[in-house]
Amino acid sequence: MIEKVIEGKVYTRGKILECCVGIERGRIVSLKRILDGEEKIKIRRGIILPAGIDIHVHFREPGYEYKEDFSTGSLSALYGGITCIADMPNTNPPTLDTISFKEKLSMAKRKSYVDFVLYIGVTESNVDKLDEISKLSNLLKIYLGESTGSLFLDSSNLEKLKEIEEKKLIVFHAEDRKCLDKNRFQARNLKEYAKSRPSACESIAIRKIMENLGGTNHRIHIAHISSLSGLKELEHRDDNTTIGITPHHLFFNIEQDLEEESLYKVNPPIRGRINQEGLIEAFLNKEIDILESDHAPHSLDEKEMSFEESPAGIPGVETMYPIMMYYFVKKNLPLSRLINAISEKPADLLGVNKGRIEEGRDADMVIFDLKNVKRIDDQDVHYKCGFTPFKGFKAIFPEKVFIRGEEAIDGEECLIEKGFGKYLGEIR
Ligand code: NCD
Ligand code: ZN
Repeated sequence: MIEKVIEGKVYTRGKILECCVGIERGRIVSLKRILDGEEKIKIRRGIILPAGIDIHVHFREPGYEYKEDFSTGSLSALYGGITCIADMPNTNPPTLDTISFKEKLSMAKRKSYVDFVLYIGVTESNVDKLDEISKLSNLLKIYLGESTGSLFLDSSNLEKLKEIEEKKLIVFHAEDRKCLDKNRFQARNLKEYAKSRPSACESIAIRKIMENLGGTNHRIHIAHISSLSGLKELEHRDDNTTIGITPHHLFFNIEQDLEEESLYKVNPPIRGRINQEGLIEAFLNKEIDILESDHAPHSLDEKEMSFEESPAGIPGVETMYPIMMYYFVKKNLPLSRLINAISEKPADLLGVNKGRIEEGRDADMVIFDLKNVKRIDDQDVHYKCGFTPFKGFKAIFPEKVFIRGEEAIDGEECLIEKGFGKYLGEIR
């Protein structure tokens, strides 16, 4: 008999079917109308969807554990229906070489609640050692302009990236440094901040990336697109290039009345309403491929300093799936679009065997009761920083979360220990 069977309304291959998911050793082995299992869980209320995957988080460890650490970050992810994450390299020390990579890896293996992979950064300091750093990870992160954490690669070095093996994923923070330098001034609020990092800087960076790598077979991901002009640069992209967007760029704009504007200070910045609405449309039309949170927490003390001093970055890993789920249900939009952007495509990009409820995949699933809508408050999130800029938003949080067949979240309760999360990368 099959080890474990979960029965209910299951989203599989684009449809919601009343069926049983058979699980052995954490993998889905069978999907059938009727299945017997040694253990059987019946889901009477709600739907069973693939768990989310977040390709862009900053869990801050090592070096900034007062902002977040791998346990608090990954536990927050889990509560938000995310069972796999990719952690960014702008820690302290930054993840740029073998030693820093291996240290982060052994720490994360001890502390993570969710499965994970790790980016390695490519900067001025290691771009001439692409052979060495490529052995560490299939995921490379490149900042073309400075952001929080000061990792940076000059665009004149884009040419060198052609040497990178084609199976690697190269993720870009696309804001052009020269353009940022030219426009820089002390912004005192969100409108000024958007002016000080204008969308032209995004367009220029994207143009340079495409000029250098566009015709090649490299897999390129443009992280957190923030402007329609940036998007336009990617109109004629091929299948090797993907685009990500964050919930904050989808739902906030600088014309809104936002209290405590520094809480929304982020790179690339929140822009105007027309832009924001255009991005929603582009996301729904599939011109934008992927949802990513860019979970970038800072302590409340830091964020509440003057606007000028407040560091850029917004937490969001726990609210991304719940907010999007509510938005899709309320607007009666096809769930297939959301699941493609939050589970299927991210799994393909990271090369992990998750993201779909299908035979052979990891049994990573979330159960949403679509009637259980709640208004988000700071107490609802498990971040170390203790606040969420999405306070007041309506959301549908998961009732249960399964990771590799294991029930990990049941309502308010977490049923697994830290260290359950597995590293899904390979080191050669
Ligand atoms: C990020 C952070 O705080 O680590 N901040 C941000 O505004 N997105 C840095 C980054 O990835 O740009
Ligand atoms: Zn980021």
